Parts: sequence; C-alpha cells; structure tokens
Amino acid sequence: MLGNFSYCNPTRLHFGRDALDRLNEELPRFGSRVQLVYGGGSIKRTGLYDQVVSILESNGKEVFEDAGVMPNPTVEKLYEGSRTARENEVDLILAVGGGSVCDYAKAVSVSAYCNEDPWEKYYLRFEEPDCAIVPVGCVLTMAGTGSEMNGGAVITNPETKQKIGHVFGTEVFPKFSILNPELTYTVPHYQMVAGIFDVMSHIMEQYFSGTDDNTSDYIMEGLMRSLVHSSRIAAENPEDYEARSNIMWSATWALNTFVAMGKSTDWMVHMIGQAVGGFTDATHGMTLSAVSVPYYRHIMPYGLPKFVRFAQAVWEVDSSGKTDEETAQAGLAAMEAWMREMGLAMSVSELGVTEGMLAGIADATLAMDGGYHAPDHDEIVAILRESL
Ligand code: NZQ
Ligand code: ZN
Repeated sequence: MLGNFSYCNPTRLHFGRDALDRLNEELPRFGSRVQLVYGGGSIKRTGLYDQVVSILESNGKEVFEDAGVMPNPTVEKLYEGSRTARENEVDLILAVGGGSVCDYAKAVSVSAYCNEDPWEKYYLRFEEPDCAIVPVGCVLTMAGTGSEMNGGAVITNPETKQKIGHVFGTEVFPKFSILNPELTYTVPHYQMVAGIFDVMSHIMEQYFSGTDDNTSDYIMEGLMRSLVHSSRIAAENPEDYEARSNIMWSATWALNTFVAMGKSTDWMVHMIGQAVGGFTDATHGMTLSAVSVPYYRHIMPYGLPKFVRFAQAVWEVDSSGKTDEETAQAGLAAMEAWMREMGLAMSVSELGVTEGMLAGIADATLAMDGGYHAPDHDEIVAILRESL
C-alpha cells in the first residue's frame, strides 16, 4: 500500500531542440552576477560555451568562471568554488555540463555561506543547510544522474577515499534545467552507456523493494522498457533524436524523486558503487554495472516474486514450463546480455579494484535497509569478489 507523502518538485524544465533559448526567460529572475560552472572543456569543443556566454552577456550578466569540475567532483574543488561564489557574491550558479557539474553547483550553493566545513557538515554528519543558499540553474549535456531535477550532490574526498552523496531538500533543487537532447550527441560512447546504466540502476533500486501493488512499479517497468529500447537505437546511431530524447527524459524521471513516493527503496548498488568510486575514481555508471549482476543474483531469493515480474514485464521472458526461480534467473540473464551488448563494465577489476581493496570497500559502503535483504560486510565482500 502506498505510504503517506508530500511531494513538490520545484525545478522548471525546458526540454527540446530550442530549449537553450529559454535561458533568456530564466535569467531575468536572478541578479546580475553569475558563476558559470563547467567541466573539463567539452562545452568549449562543442561550441556550447560560446552560446551560453553570449546569452549571459546579452542579458547583462557579469560572468565569474568556475571551470575544471572533474567527474566525481572533489572536496578541494568544492572549497574553491565556494570561495568564488562567496567572494563575488554571485546571484546564480549556472551549471553547464553533466551530473558532476550539476552536483557540484548544488554543493557550492549550500557551502558558499556555510560557516563550518561543508564536507564535515553535509557529508560526514548529513546535516541540513542553515545558511543562505545560492540558486542554481542547469544546462544539461549528458543524461544519467537525474541531478537536473533533484537535490543530490555527490562529493569525493580522495584523501580518505570517501565518495558520499547528500540528498538535499527542494530548496537546493535547480530552479530550472535546460534539456536539449541534441547536446548529448557528443557524449563519448563509454560515458553514454555509463549514463544509461545509471538510469537503469536508479530505477531498479527503487523497483526491487516492497511487496505491495504500487503504481510506481508499473511506471518504472515502462521506463525500463523504454530505456532498453532507446539504448539500442542510440548505440547504433548516437544522433537519433528520438532515442536520445527518450533516454534524457527517462533519466530525469528515474531520479526526480517521483517514483519513490510512498514506496520503499533499496539503494545498496549505489552504496557499493560509490565506495568503489571512492577507491578508484571510476566512472559512476560503470561502478554500478560492475556490481549489479552479482548483487541482484544474491538478493533474488529474498524478493523472488518481484524478480519474476521484472523478467516478464521488462524482458518479456516466457515463463511457461519454468519454475519461478528459473524465470527470475532468465530475467537477470537477459539484463546481463543487454549490459554486455552495451559494452558496460562487468567486473570491478577492470575499474582498478584488487582483492586487497575488497574489505576496505565493504567498510566504506554505507548501510541501507529498504530492500529485500540488507547485506552485511561479509556478503558485500562476497558480492565484490564475484565481480573481480
Ligand atoms: O568535463 P567535461 O569536459 O564536460 O566532460 C564530461 C566528463 O568527462 C563528459 N561530457 C559530458 N557531457 C558531454 C561530455 N563530453 C562530450 N559531450 C558532452 N555533451 O562526460 C564525462 C562525464 O561527465 P559527468 O558529469 O561526470 O557524468 P555524469 O552525468 O554521469 O555525472 C556523474 C556524477 O554524478 C553523481 C555521480 O556520483 C558522479 O559524481 N551522481 C549524482 C546523482 C544525483 N545528483 O542525484 C545521482 C547519481 O546516482 C550519481 O551518484
Ligand atoms: Zn547513479
């Protein structure tokens, strides 16, 4: 049965080929000083940087550059960006990039005026912001994280090998996000499929939980079917607008908190994946793909009916003549075949994990217990070892 909830998503989305024009409608809502946040340079190569700067200038904005946000943004970079925001008293942080850039912008937004160490406050103690929050807007260039319409902001501390996400409240969600699927055409294949699997994982981690009859599960089955279908088209032809649009839209819905309303969720694949990321700095979606097959095989006996439903509804497994367990296994096998077809990382060793790291990664895995079974330390080590 659906649990009680209150739901509000304050992010205004502008979707489509002409979505960037809508920046002209958004900018007047904010003051004149804009911190322009971007990554390692892809937006300069694609020409998007020039387009955005020209729109900012024509709207009379003063631009403060904050470049070089790395995939898996670090705590050092967060301190630097927070100084930029505070010292220049910016009125808007405009993130132009993928999930890392957008996450980082949100982390800066709550850190600029934080009078404590934001890493300790938000990422070690999970406290909520009690300072002024700088508004964030986003121009998304890569589909995957859902960061464009949620309060998530994942930060990595390379010194302590900790990669931790804080899911902030609606006051930290981007005020607006611009989603033009054409901007994702230039994403390298490796990053594209990592993003696609990130979406799949977000959905699965909300799907594989609970035994009730829940609208969200039906919605998620549709999202997964669409994602798998479009992923195959986009892998063949990265410039297929229809497929790239569907992937982008599914990514947003997978983690804009909507499908989680009133239902329990699991999130252990993300917790293990983030711990792998803390040790290796590997691409987020690949840390998830590398652990997913062993994780779900391990969890399956505890939530068998949902795995049977997954096999039938998402992978169209014919269960005639099969036991429930055989049907469920066939569903996971179909998922694994699709993952291999996409070229996803299927083992943590290809991401740089060694046997000697396994206990440390398991120690660094944050516990979650909303799923069918909460694995203990030794089970996490066993799941990781399966993936070596
Ligand atoms: O840095 P640039 O040069 O822009 O290159 C990026 C980066 O190297 C490149 N890229 C992005 N758009 C491109 C492009 N290259 C060419 N053309 C384009 N249009 O792709 C690389 C990866 O970008 P990144 O932003 O790191 O990828 P993603 O969107 O997957 O973000 C990953 C981060 O988001 C966090 C992850 O942990 C990771 O730190 N997550 C955030 C979540 C949230 N806010 O709720 C949830 C997720 O589970 C995830 O944890
Ligand atoms: Zn993710």
